[in-house]
Amino acid sequence: MRSLLAGAGETRAFGRRLGSLLRPGDWVALTGDLGSGKTTLVSGVVEGIHSGLRSRSPTYVRVELYGESPTIVHADLYRLESAAEWDTLGIEDLAGADAIVLVEWADRALDRLAKERLDLSLRISGEGARELRIVPKGGRWTGIVRAGALDREHWGHALDPRD
Ligand SMILES: Nc1ncnc2c1ncn2[C@@H]1O[C@H](COP(=O)(O)OP(=O)(O)OP(=O)(O)O)[C@@H](O)[C@H]1O
Ligand SMILES: [Mg+2]
Repeated sequence: MRSLLAGAGETRAFGRRLGSLLRPGDWVALTGDLGSGKTTLVSGVVEGIHSGLRSRSPTYVRVELYGESPTIVHADLYRLESAAEWDTLGIEDLAGADAIVLVEWADRALDRLAKERLDLSLRISGEGARELRIVPKGGRWTGIVRAGALDREHWGHALDPRD
């Protein structure tokens, strides 16, 4: 499924909607070029789950944690040297039953990620516009996407007036 995100506000609104659907144990894999909006989307997810919390870009530290019940584990693999280095990050330990895991630059270690997950890829398609491709992996996400739960009608109206 594809969606056009007309500005950063739309990307965050999509993220907030996704946040409302995420459950402990879920994984979301984000891919897309530098500056395509992965962190912006994650910030929407964090707002959608823990309103008031702000996310940071974890590029240098690689993993940030937000909130409790659920804890959001936000990893950025941009600087990952090898898939083996993934094992040193301890994400599986952090990603206990109570956590939601979001991974930027997921293509750096795809085989380490949970098989059941939502894959999101972002592509720059003009000034302020991004094309979002949504690929569900596994039964839970296939059902959610087929039911239309991530369609624009569920988030397009939820734009923050500041955007
Ligand atoms: N439709 C859009 N969606 C998301 N971001 C947008 C959009 N239009 C413009 N932008 C801008 O593009 C930039 C996206 O930055 P962001 O840090 O979210 O990207 P990223 O994919 O996480 O980058 P990196 O690969 O460096 O981690 C921001 O400055 C944001 O304001
Ligand atoms: Mg980023």
